[in-house]
Amino acid sequence: MENCTVTLELLLISDLDDTFLGDREGLRRFSEFFPTVKAQLAIVYASGRFFESVREDVKNTPLPEPLAVIGGVGSEIRSFPEGELDQVWVERISENWSATKVREVMSNETELELQPEKHQSDFKVSYFSRHATREQLERLKSKLFDAGIHSSVIYSSDRDVDFLPEGLNKGTAAAFVARKLGFDQDHVIVAGNSGNDAKLFEHDFYGIIVSNAHEVLKRYAALPLVYLSPDARADGVRDGLQHWIGKLTNQS
Ligand code: GLC
Repeated sequence: MENCTVTLELLLISDLDDTFLGDREGLRRFSEFFPTVKAQLAIVYASGRFFESVREDVKNTPLPEPLAVIGGVGSEIRSFPEGELDQVWVERISENWSATKVREVMSNETELELQPEKHQSDFKVSYFSRHATREQLERLKSKLFDAGIHSSVIYSSDRDVDFLPEGLNKGTAAAFVARKLGFDQDHVIVAGNSGNDAKLFEHDFYGIIVSNAHEVLKRYAALPLVYLSPDARADGVRDGLQHWIGKLTNQS
């Protein structure tokens, strides 16, 4: 097949915990596969964690080096490996935001338990709240709105509640990074497993959902450009990449 030699310039924007990470053997298999696509694939990680902790993972595991890291659920974007903050992204944060105020307003919400300080920043305030309902989350968002805070409320793993400045999430950050790096939307593949990845699948990128994903994310597999892999974690990412690269190569 002559067109096997076609070179695609693709960007993979992937979550880490329980998507790329969580299965050491799977990641090892990914690292054996990666050289076969390396020339045509750039990578950006989109994590709920912050840059330093992602950098440690890249240092201590066979994860491929990314071009950039979307950290704190989309609240910040940093170059890799320097960790330089993208100021243009930060400037998007409106005046109607204050992490201190969010904490103040939420202080008497007994069902919310503040996450450790290492998970907090000026642009992300995170709590634990088991089995929160949509109504509870809506109420918290309205309460913030009444206090002058315009927020995105993101719920993951039936446990994590993240408050971010309105409009900031992994999806909007991914679209921004793709544009900045010069990739059109039809050259971007996203991968994820949990609630905070959902917004990645709302930008008409090609999608990979790993088999161990939470049910709320699996619903996105009904979208035409989203592939639900039968494989879990790094094996699922590898399988998904093979799926999309195979399809795109045959199209061209
Ligand atoms: C990561 C972050 C945590 C956040 C969660 C879901 O685990 O460390 O703060 O709540 O992702 O977005």
